[in-house]
Amino acid sequence: MSSNSTIKWGKKELFKAITAFLFNTFIIMAFILVALFIKHGSVGGTISFIVSNFRLSLFTVFAVVVTSVGMFLYFYHQNKKLISKTRNITMLYSVVLLGLIASYSIGKINPYFRPVSLCAILVLVLTDKRTAVFMNTVYASLMLLTDIICSSFGGQGNYVLVSLIMTLTCGTVSVFLVDGEGSRAKVLAMGFLISIPAILFAICVEFTFEFRNLIAPLLFALGSGLLSVSIMTVILPVYELLFSALTNFRLTELTDHKSKLIKELSVSAPGTFSHTIIVAMLAEACGNAIGENPLLVRACAYYHDIGKLKNPDMFTENQSGKNPHDELSPELSTDIIRSHAKDGAELIRKRRLPEVFADAAEQHHGTLPIRYFYMKASKFTDGKLGIENFSYYGPKPQNKVNAIIMICDACEAKVRTVGNRTHENVDKAVKEIIEERMELDQFNECDITFKELDIIRNTITNTLSGVYHERVRYPKLKIGGRRG
Ligand SMILES: [Fe+2]
Ligand SMILES: [Fe+2]
Repeated sequence: MSSNSTIKWGKKELFKAITAFLFNTFIIMAFILVALFIKHGSVGGTISFIVSNFRLSLFTVFAVVVTSVGMFLYFYHQNKKLISKTRNITMLYSVVLLGLIASYSIGKINPYFRPVSLCAILVLVLTDKRTAVFMNTVYASLMLLTDIICSSFGGQGNYVLVSLIMTLTCGTVSVFLVDGEGSRAKVLAMGFLISIPAILFAICVEFTFEFRNLIAPLLFALGSGLLSVSIMTVILPVYELLFSALTNFRLTELTDHKSKLIKELSVSAPGTFSHTIIVAMLAEACGNAIGENPLLVRACAYYHDIGKLKNPDMFTENQSGKNPHDELSPELSTDIIRSHAKDGAELIRKRRLPEVFADAAEQHHGTLPIRYFYMKASKFTDGKLGIENFSYYGPKPQNKVNAIIMICDACEAKVRTVGNRTHENVDKAVKEIIEERMELDQFNECDITFKELDIIRNTITNTLSGVYHERVRYPKLKIGGRRG
């Protein structure tokens, strides 16, 4: 996550965000109005309830508005990046609304059956733990308001309170039980686990020595966790589609080797594919080390060189013997090589893959020069050559994810050429790569720090030393005259 202070908002951004918050606040109020209408059965009945309970109605409106103001202030100060896109604001409110509708309607069957963890786990897989815990409190407050004004559970205040405490605690616990990674089936199994707090609540509140009276609340409490994860699993693809949400599930699916473009890469450009696998492994480790989402960094790395699919044979790693560049002018070679960044971004957009992948493809070489062809061209020219004619088009990495990929990409290629891959030699090569990119101002458009660059350097050195250390331990076998 990029630092909140680095995201600058002008009047336009502020206006857009406030409008989105206002619009969604009205939607929440409309839901409460509909719930009242369902309870009273007619427009007249609803109006007369509002008029005769004017103070309660006014309090509800005020509380919904203040909740939204609190939400806005929280995200403005803690995660401006998230609410920079208005669709994310709508996404968060829609999760709360979904939770309210589900809890209000299912609570009519039994108070313990409410999917109290739904909002927390859905926000978790769509965003992160911190946002999930915060949004769960927003959801719990709005549920409480709805319960009060609609006199849920036949006006039994005990159940209203139990429901509030269950939402707050079960939701928070589930954020740390469900990790949002792995398969969707694994998350479904988590449903049993997140039911445990609800079951314990049911036992405490309904405790009796006559066990048969406990069976129904216990079963409903068990159902609550299962219902939360079931609704989440069913609704998640809709969120992925409507809000282009990049969940960890989707990231895992997109880096599956059966994923269409990755499969094409492995068949048409096997050298690039092998390089990609190592870059992805390094990038994931670096992402983990500096607190970026490792799955996101890994997925972006998988697609960084996808543009090489256009002309796979033009890239060294896919060549066996003949080098087509020997017959081309250095200018033409440069154009072909540097185009793979833009071609990749184009292909990713054409296949409707996440925009962050296109950014990684476009930014992973920044504005670096392609020295080999610059030197080759210099040999044929007396005058001075413009280095920009032999450089990538850019842009430079705009965030830490793409800075990581830029470094890992170059390190993988460079370390492969190091003869004696001792820890010291690998570290020296990695250090040179990072320093060279710093000197060429490649990191001045993203918020990566010196400390993070140092962590990245150590992570790459340790990971690559480990990879090559493992390799040298294997004995060289000769099978049928070929080395195995
Ligand atoms: Fe590349
Ligand atoms: Fe690469």
